Amino acid sequence: MIGTPDESIEREAPASGDAALAHILAPGVIDVTHGPILYLDDITVSFDGFRALNGLSLTLDAGELRCVIGPNGAGKTTMMDVVTGRTRPDSGRAFLGQTLDLTRMDEPTIARAGIGRKFQKPSVFEQHPVWENLELAMKTDKRWHASLRARLTADARLLIEQTLATIGLEHEARRAAGELSHGQKQRLEIGMLLMQQPALLLLDEPAAGMTDDETMALAALLDRLRGTCSMIVVEHDMEFVAALAGAQSRVTVMAEGRVLAQGTLDEVKRDETVIESYLGR
Ligand SMILES: Nc1ncnc2c1ncn2[C@@H]1O[C@H](COP(=O)(O)OP(=O)(O)OP(=O)(O)O)[C@@H](O)[C@H]1O
Ligand SMILES: [Mg+2]
Repeated sequence: MIGTPDESIEREAPASGDAALAHILAPGVIDVTHGPILYLDDITVSFDGFRALNGLSLTLDAGELRCVIGPNGAGKTTMMDVVTGRTRPDSGRAFLGQTLDLTRMDEPTIARAGIGRKFQKPSVFEQHPVWENLELAMKTDKRWHASLRARLTADARLLIEQTLATIGLEHEARRAAGELSHGQKQRLEIGMLLMQQPALLLLDEPAAGMTDDETMALAALLDRLRGTCSMIVVEHDMEFVAALAGAQSRVTVMAEGRVLAQGTLDEVKRDETVIESYLGR
């Protein structure tokens, strides 16, 4: 076990640097002693008889950043819907860590347990400054509630400052979120999710609509988060996937509601079934 929810209310003032960020981003009650943070086994989801997920099995190790690729309609978003409790599977098992059965938890409970989700469209409070967006995101988290009734504790301020640096918006803190570029808004929204200190972050096509520079800034941000939380990144932009996965990370290819192939990006790109169904020749 990594701490308890109550322990996370009282936070020590951490030292500076990424190690400190890892400390304050430590997840709550997720038992990852055996390695995996997410375990999906033989998941099936049907919509009017059509199997959006058809025997999907996928395991994510704690701290891993996994890119998931695959053609339109492969079931990538549906997989995230199952993990976040938005869609109930017809059959199969879904666990967060060793002990938390996601199929028996509702959406708010799953979010509180430490799963954050980024949808494609950025949703920030446009009228509010960047800093306040992060503060507001923190206030929706009950764990900070007691300490925020009067004013921000030193710990809370530190977490906001560190998050600003992580998302590369430390010079935009006083600007209204509505004035930010699309890429900056996307990074701000990721920062807002980070304020909830997720153990697992799900990002559905985060680079969509971004310029090349914004895409690479996003890749750098997710790279900085590596190890502080586990991530699943669904993406069609292969340059972005290449930047995130590098030569080592595992990439999952989904098609027709299940895993078609898994391996390094080079390995899956050479896979005949992947070439046929997704990448083309
Ligand atoms: N609520 C729903 N009702 C009916 N069918 C649905 C529903 N949600 C998803 N589907 C269908 O399930 C299949 C999988 O959809 P999903 O959105 O998970 O694919 P995806 O891999 O995310 O695709 P994309 O890359 O286009 O985002 C699609 O055929 C889709 O039309
Ligand atoms: Mg989708």
